[in-house]
Amino acid sequence: MKAMVLYYSKTGHTQKMAEIIAQGMERVQGVQAKACSIDDLDEAWAAESKCIVLGSPIYFASVCADVKSWLEGPCKKCQLAGKLGGAFATMDYLHGGGDLGIRLILDHMMVHGMMTYSGGGSCGAPVIHLGPVALSKDLDGSRETFLTYGERMAAKAVELFGA
Ligand SMILES: Cc1cc2nc3c(=O)[nH]c(=O)nc-3n(C[C@H](O)[C@H](O)[C@H](O)COP(=O)(O)O)c2cc1C
Repeated sequence: MKAMVLYYSKTGHTQKMAEIIAQGMERVQGVQAKACSIDDLDEAWAAESKCIVLGSPIYFASVCADVKSWLEGPCKKCQLAGKLGGAFATMDYLHGGGDLGIRLILDHMMVHGMMTYSGGGSCGAPVIHLGPVALSKDLDGSRETFLTYGERMAAKAVELFGA
């Protein structure tokens, strides 16, 4: 089963965390995962993917404009309807708006017909409610959480769609 982690990243933080999520997805047997910028999209891989996670840097307590614009049009190339969706963010400040950005992405995914998931508290520690958020000054401190998140997303996709 193919899975994809999409991101927009200006200074590399969101790209780094997207690649970690993809590594976590590949912990699940039968899953091939790819991290890809929304500016350089592998459309064939996206169309074949059963699980798509999208990440944004937080700008002004929301997603950045590039991610919002992408969700309002170009994302249609990914044939999102019916796929499993998730969201993550990177930001500078602990109270900088990460959950708000994640929530906006999940809302758009649902409008496009996706099923959204994070595992929530049902998976135990690390508890990830809406999606993982990494602080730019300590990206490595979030590595294990992002690996686990990728694994949980991929495991749920395999449960739903098969390997
Ligand atoms: C225009 C702008 C607005 C930002 N607004 C916020 C914000 O509201 N809250 C926050 O915590 N960080 C904010 N940041 C910091 C970025 O979210 C953070 O550095 C992020 O990790 C950058 O990701 P990237 O390296 O993938 O581009 C802002 C950065 C920029 C350039």
